[in-house]
Amino acid sequence: MDLKDKTVVITGAARGLGREMAREIAAHGAKLALLDLNEEGLQETVRLCAGTRGQAKAYPVDVTDETAVETVFGAIRKDLGAVEALVNNAGITNDDLLVKAKDGKILRKMSLAHFDKVIDVDLKAVFLCGREAAVQMIESGAGGVIVNISSISRAGNIGQSNYTAAKAGVAAMTVTWAKELARHNIRAACIAPGFCDTDMVAAIPPEIQNRITSMIPARRFGRPEEIARSVLFILENDYFNGRVLEVDGGMRL
Ligand SMILES: NC(=O)c1ccc[n+]([C@@H]2O[C@H](COP(=O)([O-])OP(=O)(O)OC[C@H]3O[C@@H](n4cnc5c(N)ncnc54)[C@H](O)[C@@H]3O)[C@@H](O)[C@H]2O)c1
Repeated sequence: MDLKDKTVVITGAARGLGREMAREIAAHGAKLALLDLNEEGLQETVRLCAGTRGQAKAYPVDVTDETAVETVFGAIRKDLGAVEALVNNAGITNDDLLVKAKDGKILRKMSLAHFDKVIDVDLKAVFLCGREAAVQMIESGAGGVIVNISSISRAGNIGQSNYTAAKAGVAAMTVTWAKELARHNIRAACIAPGFCDTDMVAAIPPEIQNRITSMIPARRFGRPEEIARSVLFILENDYFNGRVLEVDGGMRL
């Protein structure tokens, strides 16, 4: 896909990886619809995209809310034209053990609310935004591309029952979409980043960050621009489909 004048939606674009994806894709001349809960952060991303070959518009929204997602995709079609690419990037972590115990005594259990919160943002919202994007790509007849952001954690990782389940679900759903939507000229692919330099990872205690870095063959966290360029690769490469691109400095969980 040549991104010039294409309508591209990025979720979670108010900071971190999503903000860097916005800058990279705007530089290639796309019309960007930037979605996030954080309106102030979105405005800053819009500002950073100004002066590039493209244009960007902020759409504050909770991507877990079905009605709000349907409404915002309708507004994007009206403002910028039918969606031609979507990057499902919004995500959260909320780590805890399934069961925390000491000396055979149960100290706490991961609550259902705790589990559901991560599934809602990291899996349900991917479904909702992917569905609305696919509707517009089919109705316009132009097809398109959906890039879902999974994680190397999809292989399973201590303290992340909720996150790993969501990210494995995202990877599987992507393959399903690649198979189902190919007849409509829609590709779907996934990126599984390793640990990257964003606020999400900054929240990990420094001693654990050091332990993680020592397990990464590249001996450093990924840079947001390295993930952004990977998104660009998938958007532009019409033969990349139904696969997970691992961008992790060689780290395997
Ligand atoms: N940073 C990493 O090391 C890493 C590694 C692997 C995968 N990922 C994935 O990459 C994606 C981006 O990660 P990041 O590090 O940039 O995270 P981040 O926390 O810096 O940014 C996530 C953005 O998503 C937004 N968001 C959260 N819930 C939302 C909701 N309900 N509706 C709309 N927006 C919402 C937040 O406001 C925030 O701006 C996530 O899906 C994450 O799971 C990150």
